Parts: sequence; C-alpha cells; structure tokens
Amino acid sequence: MGTGSGFRSQPRPEGRRKASGKSLPDAVALAVKAGFVPDELQTQVLRSQARQGILNCTRQWGKSTTAAAMAAYRVVMRPGSMVVVAAPTEKQSAELVKKAAGMIAAYGLGSGGIRIRKDGIHKVSLALENGSRMVGLPGNEATVRGLSAVNLLLVDEASRVRDALYQALRPMLTVPQGDVWLMSTPWATHGFFYEAWANGGRDWERISVKATECPRISREWLEREWREIGDVAFRRDYMAEFVQDEASAFDAEVVREALDKGVTPLALGLMEFRRRSQERRCSP
Ligand SMILES: Nc1ncnc2c1ncn2[C@@H]1O[C@H](COP(=O)(O)OP(=O)(O)OP(=O)(O)O)[C@@H](O)[C@H]1O
Ligand SMILES: [Mg+2]
Repeated sequence: MGTGSGFRSQPRPEGRRKASGKSLPDAVALAVKAGFVPDELQTQVLRSQARQGILNCTRQWGKSTTAAAMAAYRVVMRPGSMVVVAAPTEKQSAELVKKAAGMIAAYGLGSGGIRIRKDGIHKVSLALENGSRMVGLPGNEATVRGLSAVNLLLVDEASRVRDALYQALRPMLTVPQGDVWLMSTPWATHGFFYEAWANGGRDWERISVKATECPRISREWLEREWREIGDVAFRRDYMAEFVQDEASAFDAEVVREALDKGVTPLALGLMEFRRRSQERRCSP
C-alpha cells in the first residue's frame, strides 16, 4: 500500500465550524450515514485536502464508491458546486452518478429530504435545490462544450479515458480552481493517467493499493484469477502495476481509439499496420 503526499491547500470551509458553533459533518460521517463505511485509506481520501489526487488501485478496491462519496459530499455541503464525472463510456459515468445520487438520498433521510432532479441539459445529471449540479459525461470530448466552472472533476477508469477528453476538461477547472481526482487500475505506460502518476511530481497526492493489501479480496480468489487471466493482466488489474505488454499485437492507444470508434478486429489490424508503416517511413 503506498501513499505519496502532494500539494495541499488551505483547510476547506467544510472543516470549519458553523456560526452556531456546531461542527459540519465531514465526508466520512456523511458516507457512513449513507451506508458506506470507508476503510483507513478510503477515509484518508475522503478527508484529503489535496487539489489533485490519483487512486491507482486494484479492481474492486472501492475507487468508484469512494469517488461517489466525494462527489455526493461536495454537492450537498458546498451549495452551487459543479461536479463533473468523466469515464470511458457514458454507462460508466452514469453508474458513478447513480451511486452518488443514492448517497445523497440517504443523507437526506430524517432531515426533511434532499430533492434531486435532472439539470434539464445533460442526459446524466443531478441538480439539487442548493444550486449544486453533477454531470456524467460520455467518453467523447465533443460532448464537453457548454460546461464551465467545474469545482470537482472525477475521472473514473482514467487509464482508459482518451487524452483528448481529459485535455478538453481541464481548462474548465481554471476559474473556480477546481479539484481533480483520477481513479483507475493502471494500463499502458503512456497517457495522462500514467503521466500524472509517474511524472506529475508534487502536484498530485497518490494512493496505490494492491489486491493483496485489500481486506475485502481473498488470496484464494487472487490465485485463481492469476491462473485465469495471466501475468500481465493480473499485474495491471490487481497489483496496480503499469505494464506495457510487449507481446501485445497492438499498441494500447490504437486499441483505445479503435474501441471508441467501434471498429472490427480486421480494421484494427489494418490501422496498426498503417501506423507502424508510417512510423518506419518517418524514422531517420
Ligand atoms: N469500505 C468498504 N466496505 C465494504 N464494502 C466496500 C468498501 N469499499 C468498497 N466496497 C465494495 O467493494 C465493491 C467494489 O467497489 P467499487 O465498485 O467502488 O470498486 P472499484 O475499485 O471501482 O472496482 P472496479 O475496478 O471493478 O471498477 C462494491 O461492492 C463496494 O460496495
Ligand atoms: Mg469502479
């Protein structure tokens, strides 16, 4: 299990006391109220003051659940907030927004309820009566137009999200000086997720958890998975290792683009062949 300390901002307003003298609940207390009892590292993430964070963790550690708790807390406790959730597909971002909506609904229990509706613009969205909004995006940069002043950007399955989408989203954090958290299992040794993890320096808080360190994943299960999926996939999915599969027939970026475009395996082979031929022509 590894953590790295990154840049930390001033204490957040929600860490302070209300004028009445009563403490505002923190993100962990609200998560517990919603039925999610975070473990030690998940607690650290929810209480983090970092402006930028990376969860490079095993499958099933709780990356999406922790991010949903972070998103739910932000829209409830900071009126007027804008939270954007990006993922490789709309289905994945919708799943995280749905988790957050469930938590927000659970917070509301016993306190008069918190009304949630869609924002009337985005297909996957929540709008709260306090003026906060949450939007879940499809994995395509063409769809981010119209968004601005993002207070919190969450990128789930970030190693599979296109660089172009991430690049289109980051400027929207500028004016409110919003925060960004990337959550993923690792994949290839390029792309923004890898770059932030490996070369992002002190600007990022980093948290990494291997499956062997997660109390909810058994050794027997892992041994069987390793036999089933092989070493490279196992190291990526469960051991939080960035591995470029040398034996792989296709470059990871080509596969990612091809999956986005929905191309067939034959077309994928042709794309890779053309790319390699072009590289050979360009090389001195
Ligand atoms: N602290 C916790 N206590 C109990 N269950 C937990 C905890 N954290 C996560 N879980 C459970 O672990 C499972 C996986 O959680 P989640 O989907 O958030 O993980 P993930 O890291 O996003 O997984 P994946 O890599 O497959 O997307 C869920 O059933 C979730 O409820
Ligand atoms: Mg997930």
